[in-house]
Amino acid sequence: MPSRTTHSSRPRRRSTLAAIVLAAGKGTRMRSDRAKVLHEIGGVPLVVHSLRVALAAGADPVVIVVGHQAALVEATVRGHAPAAVAAGRIRFAVQERQLGTADAVRAAAPALAGFGGTVLVLYADVPMLERATVRRLLRAARANRGRTALVTARFDDPTGYGRIVRAGGAATGAVQRIVEETDASPGERAIHEINAGIYAVPARRLLETVGAFRRANRQRELYLTDLAAAAAAAGQPVATVGAPAAEIQGVNDRADLAAAAAAWRARRNRALLRAGVTMIDPARTYVDDGVTVAADVTLGPGAVLSGATRVARGAAVGPGALLHDCTVGPGAEVRAYSVCDGAEIGARAVVGPFARLRPGARLAPGVHVGNFVEVKKSALGRGSKANHLAYLGDATIGAGVNVGAGTITCNYDGTAKHQTVIDDGVFVGSNVSLVAPVRVGRGAVIGAGSTITDDVPAGALALGRSRQVAISDYRRKKAAAAAVRAPRRANGNGRSRAGR
Ligand code: UD1
Ligand code: CA
Repeated sequence: MPSRTTHSSRPRRRSTLAAIVLAAGKGTRMRSDRAKVLHEIGGVPLVVHSLRVALAAGADPVVIVVGHQAALVEATVRGHAPAAVAAGRIRFAVQERQLGTADAVRAAAPALAGFGGTVLVLYADVPMLERATVRRLLRAARANRGRTALVTARFDDPTGYGRIVRAGGAATGAVQRIVEETDASPGERAIHEINAGIYAVPARRLLETVGAFRRANRQRELYLTDLAAAAAAAGQPVATVGAPAAEIQGVNDRADLAAAAAAWRARRNRALLRAGVTMIDPARTYVDDGVTVAADVTLGPGAVLSGATRVARGAAVGPGALLHDCTVGPGAEVRAYSVCDGAEIGARAVVGPFARLRPGARLAPGVHVGNFVEVKKSALGRGSKANHLAYLGDATIGAGVNVGAGTITCNYDGTAKHQTVIDDGVFVGSNVSLVAPVRVGRGAVIGAGSTITDDVPAGALALGRSRQVAISDYRRKKAAAAAVRAPRRANGNGRSRAGR
């Protein structure tokens, strides 16, 4: 049977699991111009962390409920999950006014029309949630004969979270309801078991139930948490699954975001360490989600690897080095405090310390780019060296080239950029300006301090500076000239400067 590839609004018949990710809120406590769910951990927006968990659980479709900055949230999700978008697994539902979490689920209802399976509901501000916990939740829901199941956690400080109220107050008593902090009695506030905001509910039951909710609480919101009381009232047991507090920590303000990011990094770095990566100080090593790091790579303290950076086996990244969207070849070394963006660094190349590689820098194997050298949109061939203080922009440099200290490719004439070509084996002396467009032929030598405005033939020596002049006997001649002038000036105090 051919597979369906259309973005139809009806869920595929085979799917028994769908998901709703609630991402419509503003996140007032973030005090941000950007919607909370777009703040990032490990280079991935919060909403995408939740989306990935839903996709990993096999949910199809995943309905993302957007509202605050809806267009931006939707575009961001599309950008981060192109495969799932292309496969038609992701749908967007708009919640016009943020009237609460149950209202957000109502907004998702049309996107689930005709779906009869289980719905996994996730909040987009719980980024540490692990796939394994969702699997346990879904098992618990099945064991509960397909009825409501939810995740809870025990927090030392449960402030701000919904509390799980159980029959008889006992830890094992049946769930009666969930009470939000603002609506809770002092006794209820003393409960340490909290609602994680992760639920598995049969679709029909979920949509019917939230359809009947009223805003009977202090915040005048429609609470999804009222699901628990509704199930209890209908005589249906609510299944619960416990999860570690660290996984369930929600992100409501910047302090939460920083704490979640630290926890995320600890998890990420532990996985990298186990995979054979050496970190001098794992607590200060920053490797974003999209980055790959091979075994036997060493990462120094303060190294920041982001974007689609890939570091191959045996490479080393020094302290404070920044790599964004870079590839680092096997055995290459990026030394301390180098800042590299969109660069290709070949095998065994050495970069830095304090080097600057900008987009389009392509270093062949064995290239050396040293301190205070900036490379932009330029290729350096095998074994070429630019070890000190240079700017190489819009240049194609062959193999075995030596670029002297202070060399500048003058690539910009105030209007347009021009190319510099330096063929294999060229020796460029120190402090040379190469005024582009210009070409230096194979094996040519350029004298230090030259300003090169014309092409240099292969094998030639080019000097583009004024010839040195030496005035012989200069000191003596200068003194003699001063003595002639001196008597006229010295009549006041009798002292002459002549002869000094
Ligand atoms: C919610 C739960 C609380 C739980 C906590 C876990 C409710 C009523 N309370 O509280 O029991 O302990 O999460 O982290 O559910 N959202 C919408 N539309 C809305 C309102 C919210 O899409 O109208 C989204 C938000 O973008 C957010 C999520 O729902 O991603 C949770 O909303 P939030 O306001 O953070 O709920 P909490 O007060 O943290
Ligand atoms: Ca929250």
